[in-house]
Amino acid sequence: MKTIQVTLPQSVYTYKVRIGLDILEEALSDILAQYSEPKVFIVTNETIYNLYKNHLEKQIPKQLDFEILVLPDGEQYKNLGTISQVYDFLVENKANRKSIMIAFGGGVIGDMVGFAAATYLRGISYIQIPTTLLSQVDSGIGGKTGINHPSGKNYIGSFKQPLQTIIDVSFLKTLKEREFVAGYSELIKHGLIRDPYLFQILSKTTMENLRSNNDLLIEAIFRSCEVKTRVVEQDERESGLRAILNFGHTIGHFLETFTAYKQMLHGEAVIIGMDFAAWWSYHHGYLDQDDYQLVHQHLVSLGVEQIIPGINKSKFIEIIDRDKKAASAGIKFIGITTIGKVTIFDNTSAESLWDDYQEFLKTDTFLNVI
Ligand SMILES: NC(=O)c1ccc[n+]([C@@H]2O[C@H](COP(=O)([O-])OP(=O)(O)OC[C@H]3O[C@@H](n4cnc5c(N)ncnc54)[C@H](O)[C@@H]3O)[C@@H](O)[C@H]2O)c1
Repeated sequence: MKTIQVTLPQSVYTYKVRIGLDILEEALSDILAQYSEPKVFIVTNETIYNLYKNHLEKQIPKQLDFEILVLPDGEQYKNLGTISQVYDFLVENKANRKSIMIAFGGGVIGDMVGFAAATYLRGISYIQIPTTLLSQVDSGIGGKTGINHPSGKNYIGSFKQPLQTIIDVSFLKTLKEREFVAGYSELIKHGLIRDPYLFQILSKTTMENLRSNNDLLIEAIFRSCEVKTRVVEQDERESGLRAILNFGHTIGHFLETFTAYKQMLHGEAVIIGMDFAAWWSYHHGYLDQDDYQLVHQHLVSLGVEQIIPGINKSKFIEIIDRDKKAASAGIKFIGITTIGKVTIFDNTSAESLWDDYQEFLKTDTFLNVI
């Protein structure tokens, strides 16, 4: 089992991320043994419960008292109504300050449980057991929790770090191919922003090989989690550096919003967004042609071609501007200067991105406009 220690000076808090194959039982009993008979509240969704009901119950240490809440599956349930259900479950089962919640699922479950744990009785502890690739390399670490509001994704939330994050790659065997590719986008992102060796590992293998080779998968997830951890340690509340984790997200978010979150998974949109960011960096002279080609060819090989309708300039600017998250005057666009290094270009204008987007569509991109 590999371990990453996450140390957060801002919150004066530290926790472990444990990564391996079939490690759940050992990791859970290690962490729960540190508390005196806590009552455990597991929250999951129907899909995961149906797949792992028996398996999960066997992993909980025998002497512990636990309750399970099974929520419906889907991003559309990541809202206040569902959180209210979670609070009811906790109240009905007399959860107290010593209780520990467990998020057993993908990013949707992780974000909701983290938010419920941050707010129930002004905060109780929780453990993350991420079961999708995306949640294992991204949302399971870093303490961002939250829910959606009708006017936007993740509009309501809080920072709440878990007691521990347990990443068991055995869960990935049942993940749908498309979800695996979506999670892979964050793996490759972490390679591109901070770990050239991770990019090399990924670009020298195939998705099928990565999926079936547990050692390789653990190594890639470990390196990816290291990147996220080291960035979050330096900037827990996203006041600066943490923005580099948004590499590929400017055009990624635009595509998701423009297609009303119905056509692409977040990770698929980010793959196209990273292709744009790499092209943008090359086009503006920050990235050399060889590196651009390496990144582009690898992203093309992931097979996430999309066909979208055309858009006019004012709508494009409206969507891009909406995403800039208040504070700064312009957009913080994340460009790449070499494989493993990115730069934040503050005050990039939506107007200039529109011009660049038009040029990008003329390249051999895998984004086709009808
Ligand atoms: N907090 C953060 O830092 C952060 C970062 C990135 C994304 N997010 C959030 O994460 C969410 C997306 O997460 P996601 O991609 O994991 O989506 P998800 O939680 O919806 O999971 C995707 C699908 O896979 C299913 N699933 C989960 N584990 C499975 C398994 N082992 N086998 C088979 N099926 C399984 C789920 O039931 C679901 O249908 C979004 O809400 C996003 O806002 C949060």
